[in-house]
Amino acid sequence: KDAGGHEYNVIEWQGMYFPLFPRIVPRLEALSTFECRKDDILLLTYPKSGTRWIYSIVSMVKNNSTNDPSMDSIYFEALDQEGFAKMASPRILASHLPRHLLPPDVWRKQIKVILVTRNPKDVAVSFYNFMKGIKDFEYTGPWESYFPIFTQGKVPYGSWFDHTKEMCKGVDSNANCLFLTYEEMLKDLPAAVKKINSFLGFERSDAFLEEVAQKCTFSSMKRSEEAGGLNKYLKDGHRFFRKGQVADWKNWFTVAQNEEFDELYNAKMSDAPPDLKSRV
Ligand code: A3P
Repeated sequence: KDAGGHEYNVIEWQGMYFPLFPRIVPRLEALSTFECRKDDILLLTYPKSGTRWIYSIVSMVKNNSTNDPSMDSIYFEALDQEGFAKMASPRILASHLPRHLLPPDVWRKQIKVILVTRNPKDVAVSFYNFMKGIKDFEYTGPWESYFPIFTQGKVPYGSWFDHTKEMCKGVDSNANCLFLTYEEMLKDLPAAVKKINSFLGFERSDAFLEEVAQKCTFSSMKRSEEAGGLNKYLKDGHRFFRKGQVADWKNWFTVAQNEEFDELYNAKMSDAPPDLKSRV
């Protein structure tokens, strides 16, 4: 239940909430023995931080084609190991799991990992709209009742603060991790696409990378993915491609909520890596 007593559907495992994907718990349990391939590419995000966006860019670059990639079943949380075994290399895998629940083979084999983080205030607003929109959550509360469950981490995948801090630990010193922010992608998408391509080491022309950037703008992705039926999981009037902006939180947070959030951020992130200290 949220702070106003509105219920929402989640399951609890290892002290954290998860969405009600079928068979999610046995899948998560089996991850301790998941075998990575050396050329796997793993996309890691807290929910609502641009997962589908980074997936589109990475797929297009990998495929050397700007055809729309389909994002079905690449999440550790949503596919059985036999499904992953059948995927052609190089595989693109994705997860919202916190670092300690990921397969240990990710770090053992040193596969390439791309992390995307987003200003948590915008994440909170996006997550609120998403939880209200997704049919399975059956969530109906108002923003003021949702705000406390976000700050307390009583949402799927837990606390943004713990998740992000844990995920970014050691990333600076790891050549196999690329750390991106939603905001830098929005500010200069062609530059972000180039950076992603250099990190992955694919040989792609500048003209092709420019085309990828054009295909992966908010409006272009919204148009093509909505045509592909993405909104069938959502209630009427809700959109997966909602706004795609920076600082929409200013339209939602009250002055008191903003002060509370800043205080919490400073307390929680005081021991975070330097580039995470000024994310709000
Ligand atoms: P908003 O709800 O703020 O619009 P995820 O894929 O991790 O669930 O993240 C979803 C958020 O990323 C949504 O944010 C969505 O609109 C935004 N998004 C998706 N594609 C985008 C793009 N090409 N450019 C900017 N934002 C994008």
